[in-house]
Amino acid sequence: MAIDKIIIDTDPGIDDAMAIHLAFADPRLELLGLTSIFGNVFTHQATRNALYLVEQAGSAIPVAQGALRPRVQDANQPSHYVHGDEGFGNLPAPNPGRQPDPRAAAVFLSETCRQYPGEVILCPVGPLTNIAALLDYDPEITKYVKKLVIMGGAVWCPGNVTGFAEANIWNDPHAADTVFAADWEMDLIGLDVTQTITCVQDDFDSLRGSSPDIGGFLADMTKFYIDFYHSVGGIYHCMMHDPSAVIAITDRDAFSFRPAPLKVVCQGEEIGRTIADTDSGRRAVNVAITADIARVRKIFLDICAQADTIRDSRISSTQS
Ligand code: BDR
Ligand code: CA
Repeated sequence: MAIDKIIIDTDPGIDDAMAIHLAFADPRLELLGLTSIFGNVFTHQATRNALYLVEQAGSAIPVAQGALRPRVQDANQPSHYVHGDEGFGNLPAPNPGRQPDPRAAAVFLSETCRQYPGEVILCPVGPLTNIAALLDYDPEITKYVKKLVIMGGAVWCPGNVTGFAEANIWNDPHAADTVFAADWEMDLIGLDVTQTITCVQDDFDSLRGSSPDIGGFLADMTKFYIDFYHSVGGIYHCMMHDPSAVIAITDRDAFSFRPAPLKVVCQGEEIGRTIADTDSGRRAVNVAITADIARVRKIFLDICAQADTIRDSRISSTQS
């Protein structure tokens, strides 16, 4: 079985927590570390939440703290109304026992990708500020990264923060534009597909049955997320944005892609909009345009159902 090395750059966040526990539970992935970013919460909350998720999975991988604010624009308010005041719905702030890695996210990303040349897949599921900082810190890093699988953007569909912009891009459009301009392989798992992939509370309640600790934790926090989706769309479900990006790494053939060079609108009414621009001279990004919805949902549920079992075997293998 091929095992992909990945790093998730994340603003946990409810669907971020789903993506991270999915990655920990999937034997086809080796999660090398997490880097934190603002977005759904402030960066210090994202770091704390990421440390907690690592601990919960029985792991000790590094969590490196990322940028505190966007590259150019003022920071938007965190999406507490979507993810809760502390990022995990109505759950209280967690209190992890471990400390973050001493390195800044960009340094950790650079050193880890250089340690495994051509092997590491970066999976940013928050604003792209840390990835743009990585390009500043280490411009040659494009030669060392295997590829990026990014959750973000709304290329041929409306946004979710404004009519034009998806949240991760809107929170730092200048960073996203820098990342899309770089010469590396990128898959974009944006709203064009992620808004079609949904789960309901029963799905998470079944996870609680098969994996009481981690599945139960996801089920508890997801009530808040589903209430948000009901408040804006009238349906009791939630969109599986960030886990879909992880599944696009392990099961890429569950998606279809259209290549397009991308630019980001960095000012004005359409700020944060991701635009396909064939005249830009940029390397094409593989933009996901369809997904096998039933298959993606089943992969998420089947793998997360094993989360407690995988955690237990991880703990017992580190103790022996
Ligand atoms: C993206 O924005 C955040 O709220 C989610 O975690 C996801 O990464 C969806 O637009
Ligand atoms: Ca996210």
